[in-house]
Amino acid sequence: MRTSPDTADAVVRFESVGLRYGNGPEVLQDVSFSLTRGSFHFLTGPSGAGKTSLLSLLYLARRPSRGLISIFGRDVTAMERDELPPIRRRLGVVFQDFRLLDHLSALDNVALPLRVAGVSEADIQKHVPELLAWVGLADHLNAKPPTLSGGQKQRVAIARAVINRPDVLVADEPTGNVDDRIAFRLLHLFAELNRLGTSVVIATHNEALVRRFAFPRLHLEAGRLAVLPPLAEAEAAGPTAETFPQALTDGGGAAR
Ligand SMILES: Nc1ncnc2c1ncn2[C@@H]1O[C@H](COP(=O)(O)OP(=O)(O)OP(=O)(O)O)[C@@H](O)[C@H]1O
Ligand SMILES: [Mg+2]
Repeated sequence: MRTSPDTADAVVRFESVGLRYGNGPEVLQDVSFSLTRGSFHFLTGPSGAGKTSLLSLLYLARRPSRGLISIFGRDVTAMERDELPPIRRRLGVVFQDFRLLDHLSALDNVALPLRVAGVSEADIQKHVPELLAWVGLADHLNAKPPTLSGGQKQRVAIARAVINRPDVLVADEPTGNVDDRIAFRLLHLFAELNRLGTSVVIATHNEALVRRFAFPRLHLEAGRLAVLPPLAEAEAAGPTAETFPQALTDGGGAAR
């Protein structure tokens, strides 16, 4: 596992960030927070409060209308477009609408970030099926997204986001299409990734999850953010007897 002297430093910092679409009103106002290495936050708030908008700034799909965003110590609001891809590769993203490639199998969708990182085919064939099996898709490795259910697609998207053990994982409503049993299993996967050093932000409407896992909340109401303490009192995620996929646990991930 990697350790570095900047462990305590913020990996993400927002300072007085505002966002408007076109000439519309600000949908995010004066948003300030920071994420340290290995932090875990839920992102909560009613529909339309600005969760996806905030996450889209975090995964560099948009630039803010005002304020400062720094990621891994670098001001991303001032960066040229061609400087962003190396930063993006350190971010794992689960999109609210999945964004899988329909012409590729589940296995090939999840393998994509590993192939981009130059991981060997032997490692891909070892790690990807294991992770897909862990999320309950052992029987769907070769299925293409249009033939999968919403919850199955969502799990492929999650596997793709975590397979190369990103430094920051951003997930937009990642359990919106699965039942509670699978939702808890997926949360344990995120918690394990987090335990290994990834900073995690999970946007969710699932109150049962927020009550079960003792993680603090970034809470949005009408574009304004408050950082709130955990709702759950239990130890975060709690101990688990689960054996996690090797891609996540062996010496720094499949892509490292
Ligand atoms: N592409 C866009 N163009 C214009 N307005 C947008 C766009 N995307 C979002 N908005 C507006 O920004 C506000 C915040 O939307 P956002 O999608 O961030 O909310 P959310 O908290 O993710 O909601 P949900 O829980 O329903 O996913 C809403 O008022 C929405 O109408
Ligand atoms: Mg949203």
